[in-house]
Amino acid sequence: MKICVLAGDGIGPEIVAEALRVLDVLRRDGLPLETEMGLLGGCAVDAAGDPFPDATRDLARAADAILLGSVGGPKWDGLARELRPERGLLRIRKDLELFANLRPAVVYPELAGASALKPEVVAGLDILIVRELTGDIYFGQPRGIEVRDGERVGYNTMIYSESEVRRIARVAFAAAMKRNRRLCSVDKMNVLEATQLWRDVVIETAAEFPQVELSHMLVDNAAMQLVRNPRQFDVIVTGNMFGDILSDEASMLTGSIGMLPSASLDAANKGLYEPIHGSAPDIAGRGVANPLATILSAAMMLRYSFGAAEAAERVEKAVKQVLAQGYRTGDIDAPGMTRVGTRAMGDAVIAAM
Ligand code: IPM
Ligand code: MG
Repeated sequence: MKICVLAGDGIGPEIVAEALRVLDVLRRDGLPLETEMGLLGGCAVDAAGDPFPDATRDLARAADAILLGSVGGPKWDGLARELRPERGLLRIRKDLELFANLRPAVVYPELAGASALKPEVVAGLDILIVRELTGDIYFGQPRGIEVRDGERVGYNTMIYSESEVRRIARVAFAAAMKRNRRLCSVDKMNVLEATQLWRDVVIETAAEFPQVELSHMLVDNAAMQLVRNPRQFDVIVTGNMFGDILSDEASMLTGSIGMLPSASLDAANKGLYEPIHGSAPDIAGRGVANPLATILSAAMMLRYSFGAAEAAERVEKAVKQVLAQGYRTGDIDAPGMTRVGTRAMGDAVIAAM
């Protein structure tokens, strides 16, 4: 179980350190975990002049899974697009063909009050967003900014091939089979041809999964339904850009973006695991960031890439326990709870394990 660890920028190193301590506990108990550290994002630009250096690419290709903290920060915002930390993230996803991004949004009972929505709307919420991650307008050609008829124009290309849609649809249907067997595909077929094809191919793929109840929703309506009645959803499948937006929206339903892990998988379940929150430069280096999303990302890694469901459950149960015990970092704090920092939260999880 070879893990390439990319701590990244901002709070990345602090939160990854706690996840590594959790993995250490599992290693001591016999799991054959090996870790090797690499650079991705702004730290890689500083050290190697490239947000996704060749050395990192080789390390990531050789590993069985990748654990990532977060990339980016104001320090690198002025750089050319190719040198931006985010570019490193997009390139590693593409290089490893991590086309299936799984973003669960789960409301922990202890944190239901932290949601911006009424507790009765979100209590028990458990949805999974399956976002296509290596296609769409993010990667489509042509793209650019140029002068036409004396003025600047900017353009990008939204494009999906049927094989790209079919493989992400299969991942989503399979995920639905392991859950409540309901899948909602989100598109904008009333306006965009690329997403008409998306809908057609999802419908074709449904024939392989007759037990899953398939529905379709236009993306604007889906954005609205997610706040009106989020519990109507089980699994949502959508393209790269819509999935980027809807998964941020869904994370806020849970009240705690600092709690949510994600997995980005290739066809063989090799994966990159990262919290869905960003690098939070405003609190970086202060030891106050919430490490739980990264710890839960490590648990997803154990489950999806290493088939170590028992170890994953042990970590997830420990996280539930520390919440029940009242430990809270600043982002999820509430009156009467015990406020802790990054390291103390890691300590509590390890103690609970
Ligand atoms: C995400 C992020 C990235 C994306 C950025 C940092 C490139 O927003 O993982 O959702 O848009 O995919
Ligand atoms: Mg995003």
